[in-house]
Amino acid sequence: MTDAAVAALRAAGCVFAEDEAALLRAEAQDDQHLQLLLAERVAGRPLEQVVGWAELEGVRVRMSPGVFVPRRRSALLVRLATAAVRTGHERVVDLCCGSGALGAVLLTRHPHLDLHAADLDPAATACARSNLPPERVHDGDLYDALPHHLRGSVDVLVVNAPYVPSGAIATMPSEARDHEHHLALDGGADGLDVQRRVIASAPTWLAPGGLTVVETGRAQADTTAALMRSAGLEPRQHRAADVDGCAVSGRQV
Ligand SMILES: C[S@@+](CC[C@H](N)C(=O)[O-])C[C@H]1O[C@@H](n2cnc3c(N)ncnc32)[C@H](O)[C@@H]1O
Repeated sequence: MTDAAVAALRAAGCVFAEDEAALLRAEAQDDQHLQLLLAERVAGRPLEQVVGWAELEGVRVRMSPGVFVPRRRSALLVRLATAAVRTGHERVVDLCCGSGALGAVLLTRHPHLDLHAADLDPAATACARSNLPPERVHDGDLYDALPHHLRGSVDVLVVNAPYVPSGAIATMPSEARDHEHHLALDGGADGLDVQRRVIASAPTWLAPGGLTVVETGRAQADTTAALMRSAGLEPRQHRAADVDGCAVSGRQV
């Protein structure tokens, strides 16, 4: 069976066919279940959605079909947010939270954070509720989802909003294009439509001295920084070569 699984995965274009076969085998309850998982993977579903979990910075989070698979490059956001934590009791918001992976890593490192997460996609918030304290996960459009009492009191705002330009979606790998909700990918004409709204309202939600950290594309970093500056936040660009990450932070002055 394993040889057949490896052959099927290889034929479907999986580069690490042996590793993937071993993972599917470990997750499968029996041979029939293994065939089911294999068929989903061969049909192009991301491995993380097939096995039902993903890992970010050593933390395992649950995954659901259609929900954005946390990318390795987002480790940079988590590192920047972690560096901003001083007491361990800070108020942190993971906006556009998807599976809640970023918040889950932060909570694993600092269990006493006052963490809230929000997303517009009900599939994402349902998934995030399985990874975070469920009462801390809110549904709705950006800040509209958040409890009003958080206004003006957020110490760290972590945001991985969609930033792929609409015209580039067609060039994305099928795993993303066909198996992640386009709401999670499509950032409008220049990719920055959602970021623009996030950054424009960030100062209203940040505490004095609070920090916003936003993941962005390399080619978009200057524009993201300019958006921060015009919102009155002091921008800094960050790169992490080990995970190929790019982000801009903005401090409320
Ligand atoms: C690139 S994914 C990031 C998910 C997660 N933060 C991560 O890094 O794994 C972007 C997320 O933004 C959400 N989103 C898009 N537009 C939104 C909006 N207007 N309000 C709230 N969430 C939104 C999508 O549903 C998706 O879950």
